[in-house]
Amino acid sequence: MSATRIDGKAFAARLRERVGAHALNFAKVADRKPGLAVVLVGEDPASQVYVGAKGKACLAANMESFEHRLPADTSEAALLDLVHRLNRDETVDGILVQLPLPDSIDEQAVIAAIDPDKDVDGFHVINAGRLSVGQSGFVPCTPMGCMMLLTDRLGDLSGMEAVVVGRSNIVGKPMAQLLLDANATVTIAHSRTRDLADVVRRADIVVAAVGRPEMIRKDWLKDGATVIDVGINRLPPEPGREKGRLVGDVAFDEASEVAGAITPVPGGVGPMTIGVLLRNTVVAAYRHAGLEVPEGL
Ligand code: GUN
Repeated sequence: MSATRIDGKAFAARLRERVGAHALNFAKVADRKPGLAVVLVGEDPASQVYVGAKGKACLAANMESFEHRLPADTSEAALLDLVHRLNRDETVDGILVQLPLPDSIDEQAVIAAIDPDKDVDGFHVINAGRLSVGQSGFVPCTPMGCMMLLTDRLGDLSGMEAVVVGRSNIVGKPMAQLLLDANATVTIAHSRTRDLADVVRRADIVVAAVGRPEMIRKDWLKDGATVIDVGINRLPPEPGREKGRLVGDVAFDEASEVAGAITPVPGGVGPMTIGVLLRNTVVAAYRHAGLEVPEGL
């Protein structure tokens, strides 16, 4: 048997299209476009690529992008000052401070300074708390993207066994909350879990977010399981090549022999993150303007 390949890239393209249409409707009613402010401190090459991609995606989805690129030696006070200004700026609906920040800046203090109603990353403790008690707020983009792929593939998740491998604040924990809200039976496994392969083998749904290249093997999976691979790991280059291959946390080829459906890396979960970020920003714009958030956004 060969698993269905879950095409996150195509799904994300449709999501961005839909969000773009909602952004256009918002602009007609509110007389301004939804606006996302993205803040980058320093010159980390990967972060520069992400920030550039977020800005372009905003423009393509009929939204305003405000980029703030600050030098690596920016003080925490100056960054907090910018965040406070963006909180007060009526043209800004969403604020994203690209992580990681330089070591000299306390990341948690910066996230805490963002207005929770503009925190489209869903990283503020208020939004983590809202998610955990079932209030509407903002949910981190990557787990929400995983959830969209899962419900599109499986429909109702009630009663399913879900195993989330990884317990980060950004992916593992919110992922588990979302699955629980969808009435799945949820296990969070991690590096200290005993008999990890046996735990994963129980799962109808596996979400892998550990950052260990190809850790999850074919014999860890139940027949027909749906596998969502959040990992993006670069292997060391093969001889004669400049760059190593990008792989997930799941050994894709062999897992495909057992799984019912699986996301590839790249082209699976990755493209969903920006799509959800745009979606969260348009939701923030509707709320910010005191308008009802449209159905299906
Ligand atoms: N760095 C890597 N991914 C993300 C993300 O989703 N949000 C922020 N703020 N920083 C990141």
